[in-house]
Amino acid sequence: MAPPALKGAPLPATPIKTVLLVVALQAEAAPLVKDLNLKEDTSGLFPAGVPWVKFSGEYKSMKVHLVTPGVDAIHGVDAVCTVPASLLTFSSVQLFKPDLIINCGTAGGFQKKGAEIGDVYLISETAFHDRRNMLPGFDNYGIGALAATPVPKLVSHLNLKVGVLTTGDSLDHVDKDDEVMENNNATVKDMEGAAIAYVADLLTTPLILLKGVTDIVDSPAATEEEFLLNLQSAAKAIQTTVTSALDFLSLKNLSDLQ
Ligand SMILES: *[C@@H]1O[C@H](CO)[C@@H](O)[C@H](O)[C@H]1NC(C)=O
Ligand SMILES: *[C@@H]1O[C@H](CO)[C@@H](O)[C@H](O)[C@H]1NC(C)=O
Repeated sequence: MAPPALKGAPLPATPIKTVLLVVALQAEAAPLVKDLNLKEDTSGLFPAGVPWVKFSGEYKSMKVHLVTPGVDAIHGVDAVCTVPASLLTFSSVQLFKPDLIINCGTAGGFQKKGAEIGDVYLISETAFHDRRNMLPGFDNYGIGALAATPVPKLVSHLNLKVGVLTTGDSLDHVDKDDEVMENNNATVKDMEGAAIAYVADLLTTPLILLKGVTDIVDSPAATEEEFLLNLQSAAKAIQTTVTSALDFLSLKNLSDLQ
């Protein structure tokens, strides 16, 4: 059964003037910031004390804001996972009022679904795999499946692979995760996407998710080794795809994506 569509689809015939890119890792953001010639904005729009970082600029016909959760003040590493991503997205949508959110970043891929390292996927649906709750009704709430904004014209223009994304807060996966990810029909696995979809739905903002595969989930190789080995090349592939997507979006109405 297809999951509920994000509020806001189908898309209106209104121009795409402002795009919000939500990116979890600094290493994923860097090639995009460079290629799109974005500049760090330190004007203090975010609440005082948050580590969130924003880069902005004009790209073709659009204003582009790229936000990352920055570095966790206590642990000194990028603030990955669902909680920072949802807070950052919620705040950024309210501040910058984007016509469209693009969540882009690295992901694991399932080889049994045809994913290969270096692929960039357009996500059709998101779901969680580590929010287990067997109480009636709460089971499906935990899975939280949502259909991403359908953008068939963008998919065919960029010739993208399409697959379902499953999200969890752990880089590794235990047997129970494997079972739920299989039930989610997942082709790719990340640590933020379904949370960002939840926020996009709350705030009725269209969302595209583009995920580049750094490692194979259903292979014996250690995720962290594969991830670190392929992070730079996947970040580059994501940058190329996002730039091509922005080229396509320029001077278009939202409805032109469907
Ligand atoms: C966008 O839609 C408006 C109607 O809302 C229309 O006047 C305009 O020509 C459209 N622009 C493009 C680029 O299709
Ligand atoms: C599972 O996902 C694939 C795309 O990866 C899609 O073609 C297929 O229809 C999906 N199956 C179900 C049962 O949703």
